[in-house]
Amino acid sequence: MARKSARFSGGARLAFRSFAGTGDAAIMHPPLDTDEYDVALEQVATRLSKARRVVALTGAGVSAESGLATFRGAGGLWEGHRIEDVATPSAFQRDPALVWRFYNARRANLRTVQPNPGHRAFVELEDYFVNRSEGEGAFTLATQNVDGLHRTAGSRRVLELHGSLQRVRCTRCSYLAATDEALPDLPHCPQCGQLLRPDVVWFHEMLPADIWRAAAEATAICECFLVVGTSAIVYPAAGLIDAARAAGAMVVVINPEATSASRRGGLALRGRSGVVLPQLMQRLRGGAA
Ligand code: OAD
Repeated sequence: MARKSARFSGGARLAFRSFAGTGDAAIMHPPLDTDEYDVALEQVATRLSKARRVVALTGAGVSAESGLATFRGAGGLWEGHRIEDVATPSAFQRDPALVWRFYNARRANLRTVQPNPGHRAFVELEDYFVNRSEGEGAFTLATQNVDGLHRTAGSRRVLELHGSLQRVRCTRCSYLAATDEALPDLPHCPQCGQLLRPDVVWFHEMLPADIWRAAAEATAICECFLVVGTSAIVYPAAGLIDAARAAGAMVVVINPEATSASRRGGLALRGRSGVVLPQLMQRLRGGAA
């Protein structure tokens, strides 16, 4: 099993890694000017058009254009809440109502948002690779997002590494249910009466073993690995990027900012996923973006 806080291969507990102050700025990708961006877009489209297996790792940035806050940075969820207050097992033991209020607010928000062009481009990418080459295994979308928007958009092979806000489970029995209805601050299990919890992965918890294994296996054999809308500092998810590189895959980072992923090499397409991904899709289909 992969622990949420662990490095990909080492197993050490580490909630997230900050690269601030490590001197990485020197190898940061400069923003591409229009021509360079165009060249990079063409390069990525050409490589993708030859790939038979592709994996994408997505994060909160992909849902930003739907109106959902990301975690880090100005206005991010971790600016208003401390991880150790709302996203760890001990936080839930200490104050379950506080934790539930945080997740219920996010669940309520979900009812007001829709997938954006970035989510929809992932559906097209999946169709493109599945129809063209290896069938259902050709495109794997591993997401750290718990908002369900990839599935709502129509993506089929989605591996939800950090669980889902749209499911609850019992803290005692095996009760697990999908629900997008409003819940009280302390919802209880209809089977055994014990407290329910959101079916998300908290820091220091294990990722769902089967989902993690599927993501790691797909990464080990992919030829192209897209890193989209994530700061790539939460492990073990971010470790997939290193695993992809080790397997010889081309790593493409799509993000308006430099991140720990782009600083570690690969090709960076600086921009919003809702803009870059549709452009990429258009190139793949043979038209200029
Ligand atoms: P972060 O908030 O750490 O990073 C969001 C990334 O999205 C940043 O790198 C932004 O530059 C980028 N971004 C913003 N708008 C974008 C756009 N329109 N298009 C593309 N990129 C954009 O979110 P995650 O990397 O997803 O875990 O965070 C990883 C994990 O840390 C989350 O799953 C969550 C958090 O703590 C838990 O809640 C347990």
